[in-house]
Amino acid sequence: MSRSTSHNPGHFDVIILGAGAAGLMCAATAGRRGRRVLLLDHAERIGKKILISGGGRANFTNLHCRAENFLSENPHFAKSALAAFTPSDMIALVEKHRIPYHEKTLGQLFCDRSAQDLVQLLARECAEAGVEIRTGTRILAVSKPDRFRVDTESAAGPASFTADSLIIATGGLSIPKMGATALGYEIATQFGLDLVPCRPALVPFVFNPQDTERWCDLSGLSAEVIASAAPSPRRGNGNGNSRRNLQPSFREKLLITHRGLSGPAILQISSYWRPGEEIILDLAPARELTATLLQPNARRDLGAALAALRTLLPARLAERWLELHPPAAWTNPALARFEDSLHTWRLNPAGTEGYAKAEVTAGGVSTAELDAKTMQSRKLPGLFLIGEVVDVTGWLGGYNFQWAWSSATQAGNAV
Ligand code: FDA
Repeated sequence: MSRSTSHNPGHFDVIILGAGAAGLMCAATAGRRGRRVLLLDHAERIGKKILISGGGRANFTNLHCRAENFLSENPHFAKSALAAFTPSDMIALVEKHRIPYHEKTLGQLFCDRSAQDLVQLLARECAEAGVEIRTGTRILAVSKPDRFRVDTESAAGPASFTADSLIIATGGLSIPKMGATALGYEIATQFGLDLVPCRPALVPFVFNPQDTERWCDLSGLSAEVIASAAPSPRRGNGNGNSRRNLQPSFREKLLITHRGLSGPAILQISSYWRPGEEIILDLAPARELTATLLQPNARRDLGAALAALRTLLPARLAERWLELHPPAAWTNPALARFEDSLHTWRLNPAGTEGYAKAEVTAGGVSTAELDAKTMQSRKLPGLFLIGEVVDVTGWLGGYNFQWAWSSATQAGNAV
């Protein structure tokens, strides 16, 4: 495919806003297909969020990635993109660039050395594809008199560019300190696209005052739990159906913080939680803690209960649990209730740590607005939206990057 033959240096086949995971991948894909691509970002450098991801090692995909690992008003929407550019395709790209990586747990793939390897990969792909990247560029206005027009300002002064296609890859609202803005949602709204309300996701919980008092001096302690959100029965999924059956539970670590709860199990369920709802924790996954106490001739007292609890939980957490939830008696029914309370610890968080600490933003541009095979707006041909700005939100574990790569490739192949 030949590049645009336009002689206007300010005109491009494609302008992409946002040089993060999705924008960079999309630019490289479109550039390799011969498109003349301009990639703009207000940050001073590309891929800033990639650099801090996965503890600096970027959990860049997940071997078990499926549409079921994502939240969206349309749970089927991601299928097409995830099938067109799979985790294996991403691994092939990483191997092509000789980046060493490893599986940590649950199919999560991380760079061995640093997330910088991944940013370099994307930068090299863009360079080879002839993409023009301009960082430190503020987007002042976007319009569509006939073609798309983007007015910008940078250290070099104001500049305007035009393009046949405009791709929004400006990400979500999480971590404003890293340069997150609402620009993508604003442009979508400007062009009449519907939004699903945004909320922080993959985010720690803040305790209510009573639980703060009870637990926060134990900050730093962790335990393996099964966590689930307990949606109010009245909450629908947008289609008039209860969400209850759609709620997964997660068997991973919980961490007590100085303000509430974090750790992978908690981050996962935070994406499903809504203000006012409870969360449920099983502190003894697949274990029957009172089994030893129920044996004939076994000791039945606080010491025996504590010894049993300590096989599961850090000592101080076990002691605190027993202080706050001692068996009402040492009878079989009372021990059964004690066992039950351990498996169904119901908590009512006061809230979350918000966008400042959220890994991602749930909600965003409604998938009903987009063609799943191209990520193109149904209302406005030539406008594409990819990555986190779209109402597709992955679980913790490399799913969000995979969505960025997959949705970006769909659009890059369509422009
Ligand atoms: P992304 O946020 O990457 O890029 C958006 C770009 O748009 C940025 O470069 C930004 O500067 C630019 N932009 C925004 N507003 C603009 C404006 N007004 N003008 C110009 N440019 C603008 N996921 C995962 O799969 N594995 C992991 O290990 C992690 N780890 C992780 C850690 C932390 C701390 C966070 C915060 C997030 C993660 N994630 C993750 C999530 C992952 O980083 C995220 O889902 C992707 O980066 C989304 O890619 P996008 O390209 O859509 O947005």
